[in-house]
Amino acid sequence: KSPAIILGIESSCDETAAAVICEERGLLSNIVASQDEAHSPFGGVVPEIAARAHMSKIESIIDQAITEADVDYIDLSAIAATSGPGLIGGVITGLMAAKGLSVSLNIPLIAVNHLEGHALSPRLTEDCAFPYLLLLVSGGHSQLLSVQGLGDYTRLGSTIDDAAGEAFDKTAKVMSLGFPGGPNVERWAAKGDDRAIRLPRPLLDRDSCDFSFAGLKTAVARAFEASDQSDAAKADLAASFQRAVSDCLVDRTERAMKAFKQHRTGPYRFVVAGGVAANQTLRDSLNNTAQHHDFQTFFPPLEFCGDNAAMIALAGLERLSAGRIDTLDAPARPRWPL
Ligand code: KG4
Ligand code: ZN
Repeated sequence: KSPAIILGIESSCDETAAAVICEERGLLSNIVASQDEAHSPFGGVVPEIAARAHMSKIESIIDQAITEADVDYIDLSAIAATSGPGLIGGVITGLMAAKGLSVSLNIPLIAVNHLEGHALSPRLTEDCAFPYLLLLVSGGHSQLLSVQGLGDYTRLGSTIDDAAGEAFDKTAKVMSLGFPGGPNVERWAAKGDDRAIRLPRPLLDRDSCDFSFAGLKTAVARAFEASDQSDAAKADLAASFQRAVSDCLVDRTERAMKAFKQHRTGPYRFVVAGGVAANQTLRDSLNNTAQHHDFQTFFPPLEFCGDNAAMIALAGLERLSAGRIDTLDAPARPRWPL
């Protein structure tokens, strides 16, 4: 029997992506088309614009992934597509493309939970064995998950309002620093004093691993209005905001680490994924925290941290190997907790 080859498709937010993975040779191609430019004037992702962009790009992105992988459609063993959670127009676009290919090639469809893709993403590049603790921080999600095995996840905490990346984007918008906010806030923060402005640390006193970032965003807006709005004030506010997010992530992660270690022996592994994991200040703090609690830290390469189809193809491959395939009536799901 020849090794399995899977096409993965991702379209749940503002990245149209396709990738091909081979059981034996690993990742063969990984194409991501970002829509940043289209959403930039609005300071955030506009669902209708995203859906239209996915529609117009999906076919050519899939074709590119097949060509770059140097395989043929008939070589594929299965098609894996994100079928939620996410913006429904995009999810339907990717899932329908996958169903069409599944029917015409007569191969299995695998409907992948986008969060499972993120949860498995460290396994694309590292020998990251189960179980591990995962902090997923992106523009759409903020979660702490215990990843015990394929399809075996325990959510230890999640945001009760905004995602961490969303807070970065909104902070940047308030101060007109540009979209996406994260990298711009980080650049400005480097020139500021992170103790200059007092900002809240939401939920820190709570006995859970949940996050909240909405109050922080409001506090940033107020502080900016009250300031002289000079470059120095922007830098100080960016730095103080970044420190507040870092403190919140570290505090929740510490709780999760304690919970994860209960009833388990080491070695303990900790993975940080999602676009916000690009932030060096956050990385440094989380790395220190992990060392302190005896965890080995994995930061997947950024191309696999942000939304991509390689992680969906990998989830498809692991599911196919486990015999977990789906039927053509698999629904597109705007909400789908792991
Ligand atoms: O995972 P991702 O690429 O896409 C989705 O959320 O789907 O994450 C994008 C998010 C954005 O909110 C962006 O502002 C944030 O990640 N981000 C950062 C940094 N780079 C990207 N946040 C903080 N610091 C960064 N350097
Ligand atoms: Zn994502």
